[in-house]
Amino acid sequence: MVLAAALAAIASPSRGQAQLTVASPDARTEVRVDVRDGHLVYSMTRDHRALFLPSLLGFEFRGAPTLKDSLRITGSSRKSYDSTWTQPWGEVARVRDHHNELRVSVLEAKAPGRKFDVVFRAFDDGVGFRYEVPEQPAIGDFEIQDELTEFALADDAKSWWIPSNRPRLDRSEMLYSQSPVSVIDSVQTPLTMATRDNRTVLVIHEANLVNYARMNLAGARMENRTLHAALAPWADGVKVRGRAPFVTPWRTIQIADRMADLAPSVIGLNLNPPSVIQNTSWIKPMKYVGIWWGMHINTMTWASGPKHGATTANAKRYIDFAAANGLGGVLVEGWNTGWDGDWIQNRNAFSFTKAYPDYDLAEVARYAHSKGIHLIVHNETSGGIANYERQIDSAYALYHSLGLDAIKTGYVTDTAGGGNSHHGQFMVNHYRHVIEEAAKYDIMVDAHEPIHDTGERRTYPNMMSREGARGQEYNAWGGEGGNPPEHETNLFFTRLLAGPMDFTPGIFDIMIERGTGRPRRPDEPHPRTTLAKQLALYVVIYSPLQMAADLPENYDHKPAFQFIRDVAVDWDTTKVIDGYIGDYVIVARKERGGPDWFLGAITDESARTFDVPLSFLPKGQSFVAEIYADGPSANWETNPLPVTISKRTVTSTTRLHIALAPGGGQAIRFRPAR
Ligand code: NOJ
Ligand code: CA
Repeated sequence: MVLAAALAAIASPSRGQAQLTVASPDARTEVRVDVRDGHLVYSMTRDHRALFLPSLLGFEFRGAPTLKDSLRITGSSRKSYDSTWTQPWGEVARVRDHHNELRVSVLEAKAPGRKFDVVFRAFDDGVGFRYEVPEQPAIGDFEIQDELTEFALADDAKSWWIPSNRPRLDRSEMLYSQSPVSVIDSVQTPLTMATRDNRTVLVIHEANLVNYARMNLAGARMENRTLHAALAPWADGVKVRGRAPFVTPWRTIQIADRMADLAPSVIGLNLNPPSVIQNTSWIKPMKYVGIWWGMHINTMTWASGPKHGATTANAKRYIDFAAANGLGGVLVEGWNTGWDGDWIQNRNAFSFTKAYPDYDLAEVARYAHSKGIHLIVHNETSGGIANYERQIDSAYALYHSLGLDAIKTGYVTDTAGGGNSHHGQFMVNHYRHVIEEAAKYDIMVDAHEPIHDTGERRTYPNMMSREGARGQEYNAWGGEGGNPPEHETNLFFTRLLAGPMDFTPGIFDIMIERGTGRPRRPDEPHPRTTLAKQLALYVVIYSPLQMAADLPENYDHKPAFQFIRDVAVDWDTTKVIDGYIGDYVIVARKERGGPDWFLGAITDESARTFDVPLSFLPKGQSFVAEIYADGPSANWETNPLPVTISKRTVTSTTRLHIALAPGGGQAIRFRPAR
């Protein structure tokens, strides 16, 4: 039947009704491609119910006619694929790529007679599609003014989003809002939606964003449920400049029956090319501490002066702490010249090789190495892209010569690179350049104020973690009192579906009083979580670079710190036991290369209890559960610190009662009983 349809399409293009379908391997999701009134459209069903109504495909160019009319399907081909590959590190070790592919070739049946293909891949957990434009006389150099891709939702689904293209806030550090799709104005991806009958959960995002602009989604407002691709612009409004042949990133639609089935999300990884780094043995997930939180709570400075955090002595103290506690890395911010004065305005003053006089980079590097610690070198650019790119090669060469293999980059700015969007093609290319340069020098990357994650870690496993959402730092100085208690339960089902996040958990001095030596004023922010929830975040928020973010002295004599010492950062298996966006998450993960399991449970402002079957544990084996629970009458607001630590023996048939305080959490390590 499939073949017949394809033949019909080729044999009778004059009917103009060519119609092609491709289904997921489990046959539940089906994509249909049609030409209607000369327009190329796709639509999608799940269990024969409409998810997306016919949605337009095409492009608007500057200096060339729009490519969307008089289109004709001239051919199609299919492929099926099933294989499993292993990640060097990840949320899961093994990833199955099982999909059916449909390639549709399209011709513009009028001048200038351009042609392109659209390739659809249907997986059990969603669909990806992209445009492939071959070399041809009618498209040489081009400027895309708009990508016309639509997502015409069949249902006015509930959606959870952060806005895009807000003037002066061209980043991703907002709080999440919830609304029906029909009132969406302009939002970032991943955009998570639930149909009103709660039967289907959908996430629109993209994969393999290379030499193109990031895709945001714009609504048509006024009762319209059609979202449009809205590409982040160059300063002059053009979205993408290039030359045929070219391919766009994959537009992805993740599909699940339940919110809890969204994670771990691998569709984006499967749509990226395999690793180009042959030897990945130097790429190591790790926990780290840093000269960092002190600057955010104002007890240290990045700039020179009496409170300068990045001194040689201070760095050695952090290195000693990391080594004594089995943490792998130490981040040092404010080590390099350029921080004095307004470092956001003075973006071109940063040196990435010259240290302040009280910081001896070579000596700190030597000391770190002698203790088996990775020094994470901070590179804040403030968006001074030319200044950074000029220095990248010499800086990375210097770090490499000192045996340093990790950087944290930063782009605190509202536009970058001379008025271009933080997320436009210019910056996409910059972020990719950094990853490639770093790979040349065996350097791992942790990017803050990054481009969003589209799965490039498959191709470049040195691209480890990134921010790209509102992190812990907002609990030190952020508006609205910091992050609300539901924040991390939103992140889990939105931003984290794109990939790992350097959220920086582990604040123990929740009221920020010990560190600052003074009581916190009621109007000042602080983490709106219990201490046990800070521990649970190590399991809930996946990052291969996971920070113990507080001042080391705040971990002294704290029995709960043992969990941070023990928790893994690289996972063999991930199982989301239960959860709902904005409410709660319970996730279990098995460490990679060892027998331990870990469980993290977090809630929003509501106290909750659960009976959790431990059926994820291997059968017939006893485990000791080391439980870090919210203590008596703990709550995020007035009593965040009590943690009750207990041990009990469990097996896969145990049902564990878990009680979470308001804004609370629970963290558990399961180790085989001897
Ligand atoms: C913002 C980053 O998110 C934060 O981690 C860093 O300390 C500051 N920029 C300074 O670079
Ligand atoms: Ca940030």
